[in-house]
Amino acid sequence: MNRSLATTEPKLARPRYEHRGIDFGCDYNPEQWDPAVWREDVALMREVGVSLVAINIFGWSDLQGPDGGIDFSRLDEIIGLLHDADIRVNLGTGTSSPPPWLAARHPEILPMTIDGTLRYPGGRQAWCPSSPVFRRYALDLVEAVAERYGQHPAVALWHVSNELGCHNAHCYCDVSAAAFRRWLRERYGSIAALNRAWGTSFWSQRYTDWDEIGTPRLTPATRNPGQVLDFSRFSSDELLGHYRAELEVIRRHSRVPVTTNFMVTAHIRELDYWTWAPEMDVIANDHYLDHRLADPSSELAFAADLTRGLAGGGPWMLMEHSTGSVNWQPHNLAKAPGQMLRDSLQHVARGADSVCFFQWRASLQGSEKFHSALIPHAGTDSALWREAVDLGAVLERMGEVAGTRVVGDVAMLFSWEAWWATDAENRPSSAISYLDQVWATHRALREAGATVDIVRPGADLAGYRLIVVPGLHLVRDHEAATLDAAVRAGAHALVTFYSGIVDEDDRVRPGGYPGVWRDLLGIRVEEFSPVLPEQEVLLESGTRASLWTERLTATDADVLDRFVGGPAGGLPALTRRRGTDGAGDAWYLATLPDGAGLARIIDQALTAAGAGRAAGARAGVDVIRRVAEDRSYRFIINHGSEDVLLNARGVDLVTGETATGTIRVPMGAVRVIREDAVS
Ligand code: GLA
Repeated sequence: MNRSLATTEPKLARPRYEHRGIDFGCDYNPEQWDPAVWREDVALMREVGVSLVAINIFGWSDLQGPDGGIDFSRLDEIIGLLHDADIRVNLGTGTSSPPPWLAARHPEILPMTIDGTLRYPGGRQAWCPSSPVFRRYALDLVEAVAERYGQHPAVALWHVSNELGCHNAHCYCDVSAAAFRRWLRERYGSIAALNRAWGTSFWSQRYTDWDEIGTPRLTPATRNPGQVLDFSRFSSDELLGHYRAELEVIRRHSRVPVTTNFMVTAHIRELDYWTWAPEMDVIANDHYLDHRLADPSSELAFAADLTRGLAGGGPWMLMEHSTGSVNWQPHNLAKAPGQMLRDSLQHVARGADSVCFFQWRASLQGSEKFHSALIPHAGTDSALWREAVDLGAVLERMGEVAGTRVVGDVAMLFSWEAWWATDAENRPSSAISYLDQVWATHRALREAGATVDIVRPGADLAGYRLIVVPGLHLVRDHEAATLDAAVRAGAHALVTFYSGIVDEDDRVRPGGYPGVWRDLLGIRVEEFSPVLPEQEVLLESGTRASLWTERLTATDADVLDRFVGGPAGGLPALTRRRGTDGAGDAWYLATLPDGAGLARIIDQALTAAGAGRAAGARAGVDVIRRVAEDRSYRFIINHGSEDVLLNARGVDLVTGETATGTIRVPMGAVRVIREDAVS
């Protein structure tokens, strides 16, 4: 039951981004520098091995003045310099941040926050995604840029805008309200259908006319959850609409592949990238370690696996990450020596065929002057620069890894819609967090050595041995049915609490939780009973848990563990419905165990399912394979504080040494062993 190596081909023949080995790239903002520096920069880019450079990301105010005239002379020169140095260009359309003159002339493009106040220019991305005025000016710029450079041989990729929705995903202004109404008409057709979907009989919210509907601004009591959920969907679609509009203009002038940089990262949840992904010629992600989290490196691994899922299992681009600290968290930690390489190869291990950074040269002014870069303020006589040079050399040696694939036999269902619905107002416990459940499960799987593909609900699950469903609160009937079908076909499933409860309208399925999966799991929950955040819950097995208990009856499942005391004392906490006639088992977990407890449960489920595990993987040590027909590459990433011994045979692409048996991977080091056959 080997997962196939076949690529999920896009529907139509479309331009494909051609990686040249593993690209080493960066954002470059030459507008911030004197032309004399440009030459030095390009020479240094060659020296370090940079092969792909993103420019014109924030170029608008430099290119175009209030008279509408566009001066391409500096961009011509930069592109020429890069091209002469055989460095490919990832060309920004330049529309991410409008120039001050545009907002001064058309203040109606400014975005509005949930409490009805405006956001002003002077930062970045101060535009309403639904503004036709902004769209017109932006597309005029795209037209001019695409016309000028659409056939330029240096341009290898188009970069639409920048991190669409980073700061302006939800705009609550009247223009957005009108667009929202259009979107709703399209979705529901009639006001009666909308009333049904939003459950407006509750609290006297029944609408009689489309014009009564607005964006879900702040209300005295909590807002209608259906309206809020649809506004999230609308807002994601609206920005995707902006992407499409720019793409359409580019296509009139160029057949070069087009993308935009996603933000699959801890703190951005506004874009449903499952709906965006099919429209990209290559999937690109920006990722920054978030030191507000307990375990930033686990979040990195999860984000990389999810980005590979968005890429249909194929290669993807790491469009931005940092050499060291960022500048936008409360405490901006530097990376430890060696961490730049480790983090870069963690992305590559999980499918990235590009390693790009924000940014080339650290700014001297502006909001990001204390953000790290390939060339720090200290210049090239610095440890950061020397690490960048080493990274360039390693990526060069790893060229042969490009195009190979990560093949997992464990799937995890993940959904932005479920994230929105779970973290909504008025839930059973404000301490429930979708991502916390998702991360905890992913981390336990990763530390057990499982290779996890993250897929959308409803995706084809054929060939997976274990399918994990953490806290998937909102799921459509037909999406849920694919899990039932996979279990009937022999896969095992592990579902955790708060899953399967509501349908796409956020409507509870009656008859007992977990709604759509009661029969699959052989259980019925009559009542949730979350516990206070500081309270611990004990299970008979000795497992410690927190956050959640519920009043569960095993109708057709074995009880593997029970709550001891507490609101659900004596009731089941972990169940397993045994499959018959070739079906797999369906496990259900009714609480949030601590790390050790969850590890034990994951271990049991992986073993029962017969899922593969990478030898040597454990907490602090990642072991992942990228495979081709005739060879594979085993990545061993040691984040821990002890050296690791492993068996390996083959050439290590990091050091160039040949491994012929036991190898030592020093603490903090990475090894990438080329093995000749897939074993
Ligand atoms: C994002 C943006 C960049 C820069 C970095 C800083 O990824 O795309 O322009 O602001 O964040 O971390």
